[in-house]
Amino acid sequence: MNLKARITILVAVLGTFGGAIAFLSAGGPANGASHGAGGKRWESAAQCRECHQDVYEEWHGSHHQIAFSNPEVRLPEMSDNFRKPECMDCHLPRPLAVTGFGKRTLPRRTHFDEGVSCITCHLAPDGGILGRNDRPEVPCQPKASAEFFAVDACASCHNQHWTTDQWRASHYAAEGVDCAACHMPAVDRVRKDGSKRLGRGHVYAGAHDKAMLQKAAEFTAAKAGQELVLSLKNVGAGHNFPTEERHRAVDMVYRFVTAEGQGTWTRAYRFRQPYRDEAEPINPGNASGENTQLPAGATKEVRVPIPAEAKAIEARLWYRLTPFCDDADPRSTLLFERRVELP
Ligand code: HEC
Ligand code: HEC
Ligand code: HEC
Ligand code: HEC
Ligand code: HEC
Repeated sequence: MNLKARITILVAVLGTFGGAIAFLSAGGPANGASHGAGGKRWESAAQCRECHQDVYEEWHGSHHQIAFSNPEVRLPEMSDNFRKPECMDCHLPRPLAVTGFGKRTLPRRTHFDEGVSCITCHLAPDGGILGRNDRPEVPCQPKASAEFFAVDACASCHNQHWTTDQWRASHYAAEGVDCAACHMPAVDRVRKDGSKRLGRGHVYAGAHDKAMLQKAAEFTAAKAGQELVLSLKNVGAGHNFPTEERHRAVDMVYRFVTAEGQGTWTRAYRFRQPYRDEAEPINPGNASGENTQLPAGATKEVRVPIPAEAKAIEARLWYRLTPFCDDADPRSTLLFERRVELP
């Protein structure tokens, strides 16, 4: 049985078990679920699906939905199948309204296949539903809440590695361009009667989406005198690039082409936040423990002497979900390729 099949079964078993616990603990505050304004008890994304099929489909398969089933998180050296209980805090969280918007979340014991769920973000302290507007006339009766769509709501889980602090320090914060402006793009929704309204995407594209990653960077390679100048500018990420997980890495690499053929790829610079116990500097010249991620709007330039026999320069920009993988690994994504012919 492969890993995926095993996890699917595990999730199914845990899901049934979780359902039983949810049932047994009905009425208790542990899950944060109580009866909402409409008398309905909101506790699962499946309930929202009935009327919000389109939102459900965007969320389903997203990294929010898979947060507790994600094989990458369950690896032995990671959460070890969530034997490390502290890993559940954000990967299987209780609703924000229960633990407090902006506060670190706490783990729940239900709905294991729903990770970061509709309920996590949208449940109101009184058991109702939160949205941008008061809508007493619609079946789920959402109530307006500024706390619910504030950056602080994302910060409950997204500041462990300072992504929210990086955003606060950037020009985007000053301009009011919040997380949702980039991660929840406007989308058309179609009502039952066929009329259209504006919605917000729930895919939350990030490090697993090539097009999103490409938006972050402007990468150039040019000849200046007898030097190759490689330059990376963070033009589109509202925080450092890369951000969050310490194992994310961005590599700037080059090689020279001569009459004999292509040389070997050489790394000019790695952008990354090192692990706490990592003594080796990320690049020669960096201090031990120095964070080399590229802040919003910042540019990094590296100069390399061009050998006399070079006929062309090739340069690439790689994004790696983990620094411990090579170019052929599916966890490496080639973002940009440049070639400069030399006269
Ligand atoms: C029985 C149908 C039904 C169910 C179940 C339902 N909703 Fe709704 N919801 C609606 C309708 C209809 C609208 C109005 C859409 C429109 O603007 O035309 C709406 C609107 C919303 C809005 C938008 C409020 C705004 O700011 O305009 C949010 C947020 C929302 N629902 C969240 C949820 C969540 C989360 C769930 C599950 C916990 C849920 N709904 C379950 C029917 C439902
Ligand atoms: C404070 C909240 C929080 C806690 C606690 C937490 N995580 Fe996460 N984790 C996140 C967020 C937010 C992301 C998404 C950001 C990212 O992918 O860089 C994430 C992403 C990950 C990923 C990347 C998944 C992928 O598909 O690439 C791994 C692996 C991971 N976490 C492992 C763990 C482990 C192991 C623990 C326990 C030691 C843990 N997390 C505890 C919030 C948390
Ligand atoms: C309750 C905790 C929690 C909240 C609140 C939360 N997230 Fe996440 N988010 C996570 C976790 C955990 C992951 C990673 C799950 C995994 O990969 O296993 C994640 C992943 C992501 C990703 C990365 C997806 C990818 O493929 O790399 C983005 C982008 C993201 N969240 C944006 C947001 C934004 C914007 C908000 C606020 C509107 C938000 N999140 C609120 C916990 C949370
Ligand atoms: C990580 C937090 C988070 C999760 C998970 C989440 N939402 Fe949302 N949702 C938001 C935010 C933030 C908004 C934007 C509010 C605004 O600015 O209008 C929103 C908007 C909405 C809206 C109104 C806009 C639209 O696109 O129609 C609906 C309906 C909605 N969510 C339903 C759901 C449902 C159903 C699920 C689960 C399948 C879900 N949400 C999961 C945070 C979340
Ligand atoms: C100006 C647009 C923009 C804004 C604002 C923005 N982001 Fe991002 N975000 C991006 C881009 C582009 C990427 C892909 C490049 C990268 O990973 O840095 C990204 C990546 C991410 C990832 C994926 C990291 C990983 O390792 O999986 C997370 C999580 C995230 N953003 C969360 C947030 C949060 C939380 C906020 C608000 C505090 C925010 N973003 C604000 C554009 C933005």
